[in-house]
Amino acid sequence: FQLTGTLALAVFTAALGSLQFGYSMGVINAPQKVIEKHYARSLGLWPEGDPALSENSTRGVDMLDAGQHPEVIMYWSLSVAIFSVGGMVSSFLVGFVGDLRGRVKGMLMVNVLAMAGGLLMGLCKMWKPHIMVISGRAVMGFYCGLTSGLVPMYIGEIAPKAYRGALGTLHQLAIVVGILLSQVIGLDFLLGNDSMWPLLLGLSGAPSILQSLLLPLCPESPRYLYICQGKVEEASKSLRRLKGEYDQSADLEEMKKEKEEGEKEDTISILSLVGVYRQQLLVALLMHLSQQFSGINAIFYYSTDIFDRAGVGYPVYATIGVGVINTIFTLVSVALVDRAGRRTLTLIGLGGMCCCAVAMTVGLNLQMGYSWMSYVCMSAVFLFVSFFEIGPGPIPWFIVAELFSQGPRPAAIALAGCCNWTCNFLIGMTFPYIQEFLGSYVFILFAGLLLVFTVVTYLKVPETKGKSFKEIAAVFQKGHKKVPANTEMELEQLKSATDA
Ligand code: GLC
Repeated sequence: FQLTGTLALAVFTAALGSLQFGYSMGVINAPQKVIEKHYARSLGLWPEGDPALSENSTRGVDMLDAGQHPEVIMYWSLSVAIFSVGGMVSSFLVGFVGDLRGRVKGMLMVNVLAMAGGLLMGLCKMWKPHIMVISGRAVMGFYCGLTSGLVPMYIGEIAPKAYRGALGTLHQLAIVVGILLSQVIGLDFLLGNDSMWPLLLGLSGAPSILQSLLLPLCPESPRYLYICQGKVEEASKSLRRLKGEYDQSADLEEMKKEKEEGEKEDTISILSLVGVYRQQLLVALLMHLSQQFSGINAIFYYSTDIFDRAGVGYPVYATIGVGVINTIFTLVSVALVDRAGRRTLTLIGLGGMCCCAVAMTVGLNLQMGYSWMSYVCMSAVFLFVSFFEIGPGPIPWFIVAELFSQGPRPAAIALAGCCNWTCNFLIGMTFPYIQEFLGSYVFILFAGLLLVFTVVTYLKVPETKGKSFKEIAAVFQKGHKKVPANTEMELEQLKSATDA
């Protein structure tokens, strides 16, 4: 097998959607103070024409901290949070959009939302900025909820099984590159300033323009064409474009079987998933719960503040350092995931994060006595993020597509995505209060959760590396007769993992 240009193009094009997702998540942090000032002005809390607010001036912030005003706080919090609300709602529609006209047309259609969201934010100075930004963030969140399901679904379906992990991880790689990009261009001397911030926010819609131009060149998922549409010829053509000239009989045979089996079942709704596919669903939800409740976004949303408290000089640059480390270790995961396997990397990642959370707590508590403890804290944060990206970051996104066969896949991705968005929202909203309450012991909470997730993952999550969708499904069906697992031993290990 060789990596064809078409496959590379298809994966790159899809991942542009993930880039947008990462950018939108990260972009809102840096320019907070600047945007709050503009909200204050448009709410009439700041006199029009105040020289302190003249373009490129930051003196206004010193004269009146707009962020302290309750009305501004409310509109600001809403601008941040409405993004996740949009994602929570739309992630439910992933199955519907993906099955309507196929994965490629689905991604193409939803780009309208990204462009609309980008325009609303980019042009926000033309009307009331707070209303425009909140609407733009809502639409963008709605788009991202869809894209965070459609991209892994498409990539999972077109990737050859030996590379499914590496290609699936590219979704996360694009997310982290998006976060890093937004952190860098959000610096105040680039776009995070009084005059440029609408452009900074509006740019989140830009990748959708490039994606819309490239999507028509990407082949539709052969599994969608064959299994959902019964178009054998087209599926075979699509396979040829993706994989080059090779003997398709094994792939076609596998899809044929899956189609026949699928026809025996009723259409899979989200509700029936709970009954028939309970085991798989539990694993999928567990992976997403552990990703979010690991506390990763406490770091991403509040790292500047966390570094500040840990006594780190130049916290903004330390935050960008987090973005860089984050990207580097996602690349490490791309290289490892198809060799080391999903289960192993998730376990190493969660276990490592647990140790780092303990180290961070020790560092934060001892920093009064020993000034070098701030280095311990900083290293612990960097390592925490590195362990996250080795496994718990990328794997949940693509493993759901691996755990389910064609029929239940869209519904499962929708449910897992909604779980992810909801938990993300909860952490984002509650972390400041938890931090207030637990003080320097806040990361002990995550250490405890991480320990539990490590143990449950060890007991419940089977390895999916290098297996066909049918083989993976068979792992979950106890007493299944023809399980073509690689070796007896491996099968035993998988069975005991799911039985436990
Ligand atoms: C994953 C998470 C997301 C997090 C990101 C950090 O994509 O889903 O919430 O912000 O990783 O790299």
